[in-house]
Amino acid sequence: MKMTGNTILITGGTSGIGLGLALRLFEAGNKVVVAGRRTELLGEIMAEHPGIDALALDVADPDSIARARETVAASHPGLNVLVNNAGIMLRENLLDPAGLPVAEDHIMINLLGTIRMTYAFLPLLVGKGDAVVMNVTSALAFVPFPVTPTYNATKSALHSFSESLRIQLAGAEAGVQVIEVVPPGVRTTLLGQQDDDHAMPLDDFLTETLDLLREKPDAKELVVERARFIRDAEANGSYDNVLAMLSSI
Ligand SMILES: NC(=O)c1ccc[n+]([C@@H]2O[C@H](COP(=O)([O-])OP(=O)(O)OC[C@H]3O[C@@H](n4cnc5c(N)ncnc54)[C@H](OP(=O)(O)O)[C@@H]3O)[C@@H](O)[C@H]2O)c1
Repeated sequence: MKMTGNTILITGGTSGIGLGLALRLFEAGNKVVVAGRRTELLGEIMAEHPGIDALALDVADPDSIARARETVAASHPGLNVLVNNAGIMLRENLLDPAGLPVAEDHIMINLLGTIRMTYAFLPLLVGKGDAVVMNVTSALAFVPFPVTPTYNATKSALHSFSESLRIQLAGAEAGVQVIEVVPPGVRTTLLGQQDDDHAMPLDDFLTETLDLLREKPDAKELVVERARFIRDAEANGSYDNVLAMLSSI
């Protein structure tokens, strides 16, 4: 992925990692459209950062996705990068029936939302020559955090989906690069870890991730150092130890 001169749509761009990426990529000389459900935040972002565009989008709603696609096709026909970042993360007790709707919401937003966005926006990307789909998964795709079981499962599924997507889009005809971002715990409000010293400061995460991309523009995965021990646990034989560690938090 080139670092400048792109037109980028970022889902979940109203806060946290999505907003952070949006601001960094905008400063680097890209056109950026942030999307999310909290329209008051979208208005604030546009007011504070003239030049950034914003779009109301609920990735759990197919009609909202269809409207967003029409809007972007008309207003930003040069769109060449889709960042699928929108997501939720909530604890679930699998012995409590109240957990089931929580599980269903994760699948609807994190997994189906990303798949629907990909189907909807690929026709705008294919053939652009320098197009990218960037999927934000999680280190927890590789070893689960047992208190958020369906969250982890959606991220494992998105890792698998991204792998297949990369192969299907690799042909010269489509020519779309697929990049998976694999964050460790980062200080955002996702699960209330914004003040947690064990989570990575958001600015540090953004700097390291974008440095990795700058160093390796053809990267398949962007994995900061703090996520490495989880990402590589299965391959290096430390899976059981890492799972035990994540089970004790
Ligand atoms: N922070 C971490 O420790 C961490 C670690 C690994 C992976 N990640 C991943 O990073 C991504 C961003 O999370 P974050 O940490 O930045 O948390 P965040 O600040 O809570 O951001 C989540 C974003 O997703 C959007 N969103 C949620 N549901 C949506 C829906 N139905 N439709 C459209 N947008 C929706 C939210 O916007 P609206 O509420 O305005 O819709 C918000 O902008 C997520 O995919 C998360 O799984 C985060």
